[in-house]
Amino acid sequence: MKVEGASIYPFSEQHIEETYLTPSYRIDLRNPVNVAPFINANVVSDWSQLTWKDVGKPYEVKKMAKSRLDWEAEHSEPMPVKESWKYFNQSFHEWFVKDVPTAIDESKKRFKEKLKRFQIKEVKSAIGDVVQISLWNYVHRIEDGIWDPRGKRALFEDLDLQKPRILFLGAAEGYEAMQLAAMYPGSEVVLVDYDEYCKTHRFAEFPSTYPFLGGNPATGGLKVWYKDQLNIEYVVEDIRNLSYGREFDVVMSVGLLEHVPDEHKPEIMDMHRRFLRPGGYVIMTTPRNQLKSRMYYRVMADVMNHTYRELMDIRQMGLYVYESGLDIVRHGYIKVHNGIVAKER
Ligand SMILES: C[S@@+](CC[C@H](N)C(=O)[O-])C[C@H]1O[C@@H](n2cnc3c(N)ncnc32)[C@H](O)[C@@H]1O
Repeated sequence: MKVEGASIYPFSEQHIEETYLTPSYRIDLRNPVNVAPFINANVVSDWSQLTWKDVGKPYEVKKMAKSRLDWEAEHSEPMPVKESWKYFNQSFHEWFVKDVPTAIDESKKRFKEKLKRFQIKEVKSAIGDVVQISLWNYVHRIEDGIWDPRGKRALFEDLDLQKPRILFLGAAEGYEAMQLAAMYPGSEVVLVDYDEYCKTHRFAEFPSTYPFLGGNPATGGLKVWYKDQLNIEYVVEDIRNLSYGREFDVVMSVGLLEHVPDEHKPEIMDMHRRFLRPGGYVIMTTPRNQLKSRMYYRVMADVMNHTYRELMDIRQMGLYVYESGLDIVRHGYIKVHNGIVAKER
């Protein structure tokens, strides 16, 4: 196994179909074909017949991060939305860069020390830390549920795209646009996020040794790509202030729609359509409303829940997308998200 090799590009085509665990994340060069990572649920055959009465409204995650509650107590006002994203991004990034096995050992050691002194409040908090890091280990590192490269590759495959221009709204570290760009060589990617920390830390510190399995334009076969080999511009801006024309072949977002209540969803959907060239694709994913996701956001509240958040099922997500004037080309589930590919009606 060659994970942290001397080479700046440690993986190549000879590693295809292989998977490795690093201390912080999984490397997965298995093709989507050997399992079914994207379940094309086909739950809806005619979106025009579906109503909100049929599907109900999404589940709202109510438990907020302690840091947000503390801020609000101190300032006697709700935390402004942009501020809440700053808290979220900093907190989430700190988890992505953790050496997880070491962090698990340390949390267990702390727990044993607290237990010895029998201070109930501290013991409880130490147990909470062990549970959190163990859950993160399972969800992100072992299961690869957050990046989920095989699921994303399956969601993105076989689209009619040549050297596409890709706009990623609320890009954070930009993972999905990098995966998409690897699959469609010659892509030009524009990542947009209004939290500068995403450009300076989440994207900048995204491992340059992480391999994205994509296409080889020379052979038509598979090729491994790296962040530095992709054509990426990072724009720090509010997506509502963008002044592009209808120039993108793909406009995408991952975990954006569920962060605004219903009255603002049409505006978010409008952002996805506004910069799309005729015939282009909108690609979106949102977290699934399933029991294990509800549990995840409860346990990880202090890490993740600084912002308004809903969990929805694929029919609810599809209805938001359909009602905004898009036709749904593909819809289904990947590991922890719903995924939709759509085109303008
Ligand atoms: C939940 S994150 C997306 C999920 C992402 N894959 C991650 O790992 O965090 C949403 C991102 O959208 C950004 N964002 C939210 N509203 C925005 C806006 N109006 N303009 C630009 N960026 C925005 C936030 O700063 C945040 O980085």
